[in-house]
Amino acid sequence: MTSTNPQGVMARLKAGTAAQHAVAESKPLEAALIDGSIGQAQYQKYLGQRWLIHRELESATDRAHKIDSRLASLNLPSLYQTKNLETDLAQLKTNLNSIQPLPGAQKLIQSILQASPATLMGIFYVFEGSKNGARYISKALKEKGVTALRYLDPHGEEQRPIWMKFRSDMDAISWSPTEQDSMVSAAQATFDAISSLDDAIHAG
Ligand code: HEM
Repeated sequence: MTSTNPQGVMARLKAGTAAQHAVAESKPLEAALIDGSIGQAQYQKYLGQRWLIHRELESATDRAHKIDSRLASLNLPSLYQTKNLETDLAQLKTNLNSIQPLPGAQKLIQSILQASPATLMGIFYVFEGSKNGARYISKALKEKGVTALRYLDPHGEEQRPIWMKFRSDMDAISWSPTEQDSMVSAAQATFDAISSLDDAIHAG
């Protein structure tokens, strides 16, 4: 198994957000997803908020490619999730125009709009990494008869190799120490926003 370069940005991102991952993973909404007990209305709300975020994240990533040619090596469009979310939401008969951002999503969208390309990659990292746990969640939901699972399991059996490639491609870019610092801060802030968003979805 390929390991993360201990000097690389991916090792810094993992270590710098390990505590926040533990918090995010233990949220009641995540528990309801992983044991398959989430109801359809709450699942729809979860996907709707993720859709608002991914739409902004991926438009911002498209723009970032134009000002930072290093991003091309990451093949990011192949990882985008907006269309997958739209497929799931259409299957659940959700009117996209009716989705309003909760404060956690609003906060994330603001930071996406202000982010430099490197900072944006700190945010992107959190959502890309979240596909690892999401694959487990999708298995639980599938057993409960949920079929709108494109977002939670976009790559199927390819999940592991795609994640390994993302890690090594990120490490292959020479990010400056300042860029690495801002990436880690952005990833930490993203985890915090997601945790508060997931609490608001669960409470609603
Ligand atoms: C039920 C909830 C969750 C479970 C069970 C879970 C599980 C996992 C697992 C097993 C990995 C390790 C993948 C590997 O290296 O082999 C992982 C990685 C990761 N997860 Fe989660 N996760 C959950 C929720 C989340 C949430 C809500 C987020 C953020 C939105 C998140 C973001 C990440 C990130 C960024 C990584 C990559 C860590 C690294 O750099 O190696 N996870 N998760």
